[in-house]
Amino acid sequence: VNTVNQHLASANPSVQWIGGTDGHLQLIDQTLLPQQLSYVACHDVDTVWEAIKSLRVRGAPAIGIAAAYGVCLASGAAPPGQAAAAAQCAAEHLASSRPTAVNLFWALDRMTSVIRDRSWSEYTLAEALLAEARQIHNEDRQMCHAIGRHGAALIPAQATLMTHCNAGGLATAEYGTALSVMFTCQDQGKRLHVFADETRPLWQGSRLTAWELTRRGIPVTLICDSMAAHVMQTRKVDAVIVGADRITARGDVANKIGTYGLAVNAKHHGVPFYVAAPSSTFDLQMLHGSDIPIEQRSRDEIIAPHGRSIAPDGIDVYNPAFDVTPAELVSALITERGVIHQVNVESIAQHFRQNSPKPAHT
Ligand code: MRU
Repeated sequence: VNTVNQHLASANPSVQWIGGTDGHLQLIDQTLLPQQLSYVACHDVDTVWEAIKSLRVRGAPAIGIAAAYGVCLASGAAPPGQAAAAAQCAAEHLASSRPTAVNLFWALDRMTSVIRDRSWSEYTLAEALLAEARQIHNEDRQMCHAIGRHGAALIPAQATLMTHCNAGGLATAEYGTALSVMFTCQDQGKRLHVFADETRPLWQGSRLTAWELTRRGIPVTLICDSMAAHVMQTRKVDAVIVGADRITARGDVANKIGTYGLAVNAKHHGVPFYVAAPSSTFDLQMLHGSDIPIEQRSRDEIIAPHGRSIAPDGIDVYNPAFDVTPAELVSALITERGVIHQVNVESIAQHFRQNSPKPAHT
């Protein structure tokens, strides 16, 4: 294992719980990267809600982990006799922060199950909640590494890859999903060159993905989103790899706005289009991608980046944060359990039936 990658992964965790049941949550403030690597300390639920809403912490798995710890903050601070009610109220509040990534609701459901499990006394609930949040965090770390191993097997010894948004260590407990595949390839000595889409309107590609790849010494070329088709037409791109915010039972994939266009382009140019995501990103209760709630964000993100107006006053703006790529355009799904090559409702159901229900814990 490449020690530089391991060191970087553990040196700056995007999400970290400091202390015991009376502790607090520490997040990398991702809105300040790449100029500034600094942390925001969350001592109450409202600060966690704001951090998720404003993308200080972002990426589907990371917001689930942060929300789980947010529930711990509420139970830890509650007066005697009110820990369960406070934790339940926090879970409901945090669920309103962002609508698309199912990992948020998956993590909060797990925390709610602990609250409802009446075997905990009022005195041990905070401990039980913190143990569950740590477990969610640790499972994600393990799932990311397993995704990297399964995905790396799909990538040749020398490869040019393309990615969109940020599905790296910042977006997860560690290593990431799409970027975990790249880091694992690098750990294995494969030679990569990555084209990173800048990812308008919030530049997760240029601010975060380019930063993560550069720090690990993976050659990366930054392009505007609108250049992706041209790059596929004129250079040999071996594969596109992206993460996901929600994958339905039939394999439709919600991910950062622009992903669908990339998948259409990849199909046209015969480039494999891989989606890497842990099982916590699958919403097997939902069949069709058209049912996935798509977050609509502020007009200011488009018309006034960095506070500077770039459009006429009063212009009509549409700012969906995610789009849905139909299963038919996905060459394979990479999960912690393996690779689903033919993406459809049967293969996905079989994948989750056949493979172990939970990742191994350390
Ligand atoms: O709005 P964001 O930055 O939270 O969107 C994130 C993405 O779209 C990621 O690709 C996705 O959450 C996967 S992160 C492993």
